[in-house]
Amino acid sequence: MKLCIMGTGYVGLVTGTCFANLGNEVVCVSGDENKINLLKQGKVPIYEPDLDELIEKNVKENRLFFDTDSEKSIQKSEIIFICKGTPSQPNGQVNLKYVEDAAIEIGRAINDYKIVVNKSTVPIGSGDWVSMIINDEQVKLNKKVPFDVVSCPEFLREGSAIYDVFFTDRIVIGSSSKNAIETMKKLYEPIINQTFETDLNPRPKTKVPLVVTDLTSAEMIKYAANSFLATKISFINEIASICEKVGADVTKVADGIGLDKRIGREFLNAGLGWGGSCFPKDLSAISQIAAEYGLSTQIINAVVQANKQQRSNIIKKAQELLKILKGKTIGVLGISFKPDTDDTRYAPAITIINNLIKLGARVKVYDPIVKDRPEDLSEKSIFCKDSYEVAENSHLLILATEWDEFIKLDFEKIKGSMSNSLIIDGRNVLDKEVLTNMGFTYIGIGR
Ligand code: UGA
Repeated sequence: MKLCIMGTGYVGLVTGTCFANLGNEVVCVSGDENKINLLKQGKVPIYEPDLDELIEKNVKENRLFFDTDSEKSIQKSEIIFICKGTPSQPNGQVNLKYVEDAAIEIGRAINDYKIVVNKSTVPIGSGDWVSMIINDEQVKLNKKVPFDVVSCPEFLREGSAIYDVFFTDRIVIGSSSKNAIETMKKLYEPIINQTFETDLNPRPKTKVPLVVTDLTSAEMIKYAANSFLATKISFINEIASICEKVGADVTKVADGIGLDKRIGREFLNAGLGWGGSCFPKDLSAISQIAAEYGLSTQIINAVVQANKQQRSNIIKKAQELLKILKGKTIGVLGISFKPDTDDTRYAPAITIINNLIKLGARVKVYDPIVKDRPEDLSEKSIFCKDSYEVAENSHLLILATEWDEFIKLDFEKIKGSMSNSLIIDGRNVLDKEVLTNMGFTYIGIGR
């Protein structure tokens, strides 16, 4: 099929590349000429494992194209995916400007029947709103070309995006048009039936379930899924705090409850709390949507509050260990909000580093991929070339992001160069017993 992907961020690039790899002809469109030129030269503006190779392969095989001309790209495509950014505004509401611009472009360019797919996470009702904008633009140009709008939310995680697209747990298609649903099913058929060839591992052997529903329910599924996942994390973090007091190990508690199929082990890893561009934005948006109907989201509000608390808990732990933070050197390993991504939006590490600096500590940082100082990271933080430089003369080391290379560090060497042998494992990924035997004071989260 011929597809046009509007937006070249995480979702746009990954969706476009994966569909191209399944044999479709895909053009990814952005108004950002520099970005499109870079992509044409094979330079990928985001860090996502395996994405650059897959882009290169599909560009070479003439299935994946990049363009700034949205009109031409829309006109030659059967399905248009809106994959535009939907950032939060300061009041928590979603900024829909980019989605609106895309809908306007579609309305102006549309020349024959199109299926317009909302992949961006958009507030409930946005499907109808996109239809309205496309119609309004058509009226201005005296045309009435038919189209259908579909909500097909994305469930990929940064860091494992390609795997998540090909081996998703489910596909959700929401529309009132039978024709659009049938076409979408056809597009997703290789994923649903798992008939495509791949060397991605591990390959689940099961077919992918499909949920066909109305537009609004599909939009709600996305918000409910992210809210529930964030709830699981905040819940286990709260249990972790109790574990610390009573002397239990939250990792074992998570194993013990996670084996119950009704609960499930995933997203029960206690740590510094959730960050990234999705959970914070989506939980805030769902609260705003509820407020429009006079409802208050008490569970979601508590989940958000508990997540903020989790970041302060680390500062308390540092204060308990070091007593005075002023004049102390603290090393922080990891800046990105999770491993295998360069995304630092709402990253726990940034809040923690900034607060430690406010309290008078000198903070040294290192991240395997984040090399440029994010805008919201204190100017006073000191970037180091590697973890060993971070550890040198530090009074305390905090592991903030569970990058694989941190787990494999030479901790004997680290211990030898630190001023104190204190370590806070903010993600519970280090071997407590080994580190304790080495002479470290090891503080995890809830263990
Ligand atoms: C999340 C969802 O997992 C995806 O399904 C969804 O498509 C995406 O949002 C989105 O809406 O676009 P993402 O934010 O990329 O994906 O990353 P996650 O793997 O969900 O991690 C989110 C945060 O939760 C990270 O800060 C991570 O460290 C934290 N987390 C995750 C925990 O603290 N504990 C866990 O057990 C799992």
